[in-house]
Amino acid sequence: MTTTTEQAREPDILCHGLVRIFSTEGVEVQALQGLDLRVERGDVVAIVGASGSGKSTLLSILSGLDRPTGGSAVVAGTDIGAMSRADRVRYQRHTVGFVWQQTSRNLLPYLTAAENIAVPLVLSGAKARTERVEELLGLLGIEHCRDRRPEQMSGGEQQRTAIAVALANSPRVLLADEPTGELDDATSAEVLEALRGASERLGVTVLIVTHDPTVSEHVRRTVQIRDGRTSTEVLRRTERDDSGAEVHVAEEFAVLDRTGRLQLPEDFVSALDLRERVRLALETDHVGVWPDGAGRTASDPAGATGAGGSSGAGGDAEQARTGRAAGDAERAGTVGATGDPDALRSAGATSAAGGSTAASAARPRRRDLRGEGNDD
Ligand SMILES: Nc1ncnc2c1ncn2[C@@H]1O[C@H](COP(=O)(O)OP(=O)(O)OP(=O)(O)O)[C@@H](O)[C@H]1O
Ligand SMILES: [Mg+2]
Repeated sequence: MTTTTEQAREPDILCHGLVRIFSTEGVEVQALQGLDLRVERGDVVAIVGASGSGKSTLLSILSGLDRPTGGSAVVAGTDIGAMSRADRVRYQRHTVGFVWQQTSRNLLPYLTAAENIAVPLVLSGAKARTERVEELLGLLGIEHCRDRRPEQMSGGEQQRTAIAVALANSPRVLLADEPTGELDDATSAEVLEALRGASERLGVTVLIVTHDPTVSEHVRRTVQIRDGRTSTEVLRRTERDDSGAEVHVAEEFAVLDRTGRLQLPEDFVSALDLRERVRLALETDHVGVWPDGAGRTASDPAGATGAGGSSGAGGDAEQARTGRAAGDAERAGTVGATGDPDALRSAGATSAAGGSTAASAARPRRRDLRGEGNDD
């Protein structure tokens, strides 16, 4: 039995090894290939990735519209794969809210904003509907649209109304697939701020799929999907430097799956011309990755005897100098960490793996964004 403290710590979205294979006319497409994702309660997270990388497939599964072929997804305590038909209706009505890219798909064209927001309340038999509608119109800053039909609203107003509709029954999780895809930059910013504001005020967890490069200004965490898996993520925070000035810091992390696999960022792979096989070395506080054939021996792949500080605190010096060649990478950019993942983790490499190539030691790749606006 879980205690209240454990429940409070449970994430709102937890995917393990999520797989979705589409078969059409004998051709199989693996849209999701073992995707792992964890989103804490109340967080606002953006999912980015190339067209066809599996973003919409992920959201369809999380919204209960589609079922995974394998793996597991738990949203707000509900196991998506094990839902009955009745569970699914309840889940879609009360647990998750959804906002689509097409403004026209989110709202009924012949109803006003207030009437559109009332629809899910009527369907769920909610009481005090008028009060709830007014509350949401105010929260989204669209009181002036109360009696307007969608065609009488701007694209941004329509999407903010759509967010109000999605929030009507107080879901724990709000899913939005390209909610700003049809909007200009200024209007996109308004809609992204509306999503963030809703999360702040209502505590709702928000997952936004987007191509919008400005999304990083509005969310603290951006997760990248590549080929149906989460590959890297960027966390942002604000710090004060020595002079007291505000500095925006972005740190990029590689995602390590349960079997120890991680995907190096594309620019790391191309910068060192990494292909097929790379050499690995376990140091006390980081893992080194070198191109195969870089003129180093397996016993000293870093050419760095003494440079890694392998006698430092907490590490087994013998183990810490272990160098390995990671072979048969599935494709360029994917490194199979052939070592014992626990040993790697105990060396402090879990979150630092994205930044451990070359000389950047164990620190995650970190960018000082002062004066640059933002970066992704
Ligand atoms: N119903 C389906 N039947 C067959 N293949 C599908 C289906 N839905 C998606 N796919 C395929 O799965 C892969 C992932 O598609 P998905 O729509 O999740 O990508 P996406 O990341 O949302 O792309 P975009 O940014 O273009 O919206 C693609 O190769 C797509 O062609
Ligand atoms: Mg899509």
